[in-house]
Amino acid sequence: VESVLPSTNTEMKKRIASKREDLENGDVVFAEIQTDGRGRHGRSWLAPVGGSLTFSMYWSFPDGYQSMAGLSLLVGLAVCDALKEFGVEDAELKWPNDIYLQGKKLAGVLIEVEGQIGATAHSVIGIGLNVCVPDNQYDVGQPHSDLASYLGTIPDRNALAAEIIKSLWSYLPKFTQQGFGPFTAYWEALDLYADKRIVLQMGEKRFSGIDRGVDASGALLVETQDGITRFHGGEVSLRGN
Ligand code: ATP
Ligand code: BTN
Repeated sequence: VESVLPSTNTEMKKRIASKREDLENGDVVFAEIQTDGRGRHGRSWLAPVGGSLTFSMYWSFPDGYQSMAGLSLLVGLAVCDALKEFGVEDAELKWPNDIYLQGKKLAGVLIEVEGQIGATAHSVIGIGLNVCVPDNQYDVGQPHSDLASYLGTIPDRNALAAEIIKSLWSYLPKFTQQGFGPFTAYWEALDLYADKRIVLQMGEKRFSGIDRGVDASGALLVETQDGITRFHGGEVSLRGN
């Protein structure tokens, strides 16, 4: 636990790179303040002091990074599961890496990986979650939700972190062995855009269709007149329509 870090993901990557550090699966780095908290595509993750949970977990994949397909979706599931213990039953998932509550972003997942083809992949699972970040008092660049506004009370951050970590520890071994396949139905049950029209943005290109769930690699299945097209995370951004 550190009070100030640029980013817990960056810190964990540094620890992976400095081979002297004996990291074990499930090890976690926390920060109270991140000076350079990151989302995808170089965007920032913002958090008021004391109002959020920001941490990163280490997990290794002996079969290489191909076996990590669907990891950001799995992490979303684990977070939703943990939230249920705190009375949050209606959190939803926005493919590939966001957790929504009452239609607004509550938390984000940032997966990063160090490793080469054929070798163990060392992953960093970063989670940022709004605990007490009132939408009308803190501008993060898009509408967002937070647990305190939803619950009417501020949940204990230590207990919350413990529950999320417990839930990750329980899902990750099965995921490491069997991949995302066993989790697709559960993910689809929480899908924010299930059977709705969506727009996918890939750089300058746009693609629209109906969200028909995910496959065993965590790819999004989108239906158009031409049938089903699969999209992998990476460069794709999803919007409702
Ligand atoms: P997508 O992941 O679909 O491309 P996104 O808008 O969720 O879209 P990300 O890169 O996943 O983008 O997340 C970064 C974005 O999250 C930032 O650009 C900002 O708008 C938003 N953001 C930053 N801090 C917070 C926060 N505390 N709560 C909610 N949203 C935040
Ligand atoms: C997103 O919404 O795109 C992902 C946001 C992830 C934020 C978390 S906070 C802890 C970890 N450290 C970072 O710099 N980012 C992740």
